[in-house]
Amino acid sequence: MEIKKLSKVIVSPNVTISTVIEAINKNGVMGVFVCDEDRELLGIIMDSDIRRATLRNLDLNASVKTIMKTSPFTIPHNVSSEKKKQLIIKSNHVLAPVIDENRKVVDYVFLPDILNNIYEYQNGENSNGDTAILPPQKILVIGGAGYIGSVLNDKLLRMGYKVRVLDLLLYGKDTLKAFEDEPNFEFIRGDCRDEETINRVLDGVDAVVHLGEIVGDSACRVNEAFTVEINYVATHKIVESCIKRYIKRFIFASSCSVYGHSEEEVNEQSVLNPVSLYARCKIQSEEAILGFNSTYFCPTILRLATVHGRSYRQRFDLVANLLTIKASAEKKIQIFGGGQWRPFVSVNDVGSSIIAVLHSDCHKVKNQIFNLGDSRENYQLFQIGKIIKDLIPDVEVEVLKEKEDKRNYRVSFEKIKKQLGFTAEYKIFDTVKDLTKAYNVEKLFHDYQDAKYHNSLSLKE
Ligand SMILES: NC(=O)c1ccc[n+]([C@@H]2O[C@H](COP(=O)([O-])OP(=O)(O)OC[C@H]3O[C@@H](n4cnc5c(N)ncnc54)[C@H](O)[C@@H]3O)[C@@H](O)[C@H]2O)c1
Repeated sequence: MEIKKLSKVIVSPNVTISTVIEAINKNGVMGVFVCDEDRELLGIIMDSDIRRATLRNLDLNASVKTIMKTSPFTIPHNVSSEKKKQLIIKSNHVLAPVIDENRKVVDYVFLPDILNNIYEYQNGENSNGDTAILPPQKILVIGGAGYIGSVLNDKLLRMGYKVRVLDLLLYGKDTLKAFEDEPNFEFIRGDCRDEETINRVLDGVDAVVHLGEIVGDSACRVNEAFTVEINYVATHKIVESCIKRYIKRFIFASSCSVYGHSEEEVNEQSVLNPVSLYARCKIQSEEAILGFNSTYFCPTILRLATVHGRSYRQRFDLVANLLTIKASAEKKIQIFGGGQWRPFVSVNDVGSSIIAVLHSDCHKVKNQIFNLGDSRENYQLFQIGKIIKDLIPDVEVEVLKEKEDKRNYRVSFEKIKKQLGFTAEYKIFDTVKDLTKAYNVEKLFHDYQDAKYHNSLSLKE
């Protein structure tokens, strides 16, 4: 190995974490080895270690020694290159130093490079195979017992896909009753943080839709360490496992909350301005997913607007759903601030857009970020109050200006419209009408305050 190339992956133990971040951003192998002046190995730092620590408010001026792993997985220099490949593929690691008898780093092995080579060798010119994922292919929906996942399952099954759900059932299992008799439906209860579980559920699937997280700012605050392990660390590991198994298609549900607070209309290129741990985890996960940059891996990031509408797993901790059900039940709603902009999208349209991504050829969606919503469905919150008042005239709408919510973003959805032809079929108006009918006519959701409809309340229980 040329010393020049090796120098890009080696740092001294005397540097700070910010120097390591710069080195990792430039070297393309997602990590660095910490070595003394004789290149003797002292430890390793991967970008995943830094992202995890950043989410826990890491001090970037601290020494690398505070976060390096001191007993890294290593590969001996005196084995064949075939053996080196096998060793890293069998390990749980992406990057490994090759060391001599004196623990001096003489080379390294980077898993994505090896997998790309094997894939290209096996598939020849088709290594960029551009095919859509169509029924009856098998889709793994992680978090498929949730609000969006359960609606997505229904749509996928109706189209003839095979569906496997992995879910921890944090909010109960009732949502999956609807699919019990479906021959193409399979449920595995498990935790996506567990690598063995992930390897088991990935077996035989053609695409992965990852929705299994702690969702919402307040739910993420209930236990921040737990949130980081699920919302960032697990996502990173799931992607690694997909890459190892040549699972090409991966769709990640991010959120428009990454824009946080902005006075201007934002698009996919805008500067991100997160105001919560939830949003910061989304950003770190997006960067980690796109950072793999593998020849065959085809990930797509969807930044969802705030979702509304009816689902098998109903949520009333989402602003449009909550205000509508409160208006129906209590005839009085309070809106905090009112002037802040927020984009909205129906849960049905989220399901349809995920299927639109599966139906797209890879070159259209690979490594792409799409805001998911419809530019016509950006509202200031007081306007939501107005729509509700128009449909439920006897409701009193109180706007509490002094209690403004920090989140304020108006989002452009032109990219998904132009590139995937997506526009919303259902509007906020449709959800307000439908949930009002559910409450008044179908006599549903009279227990809307129950913890099962509210993520943070459930997690506190
Ligand atoms: N609903 C929205 O308004 C909205 C907006 C933007 C983005 N999103 C994203 O869409 C995705 C789905 O959101 P949702 O509204 O359906 O949320 P949800 O809370 O209803 O569903 C999440 C599901 O994931 C499961 N889960 C959580 N941790 C898990 C783990 N460790 N292992 C396995 N399963 C686990 C939960 O049991 C739950 O069924 C999330 O990634 C969320 O951030 C949602």
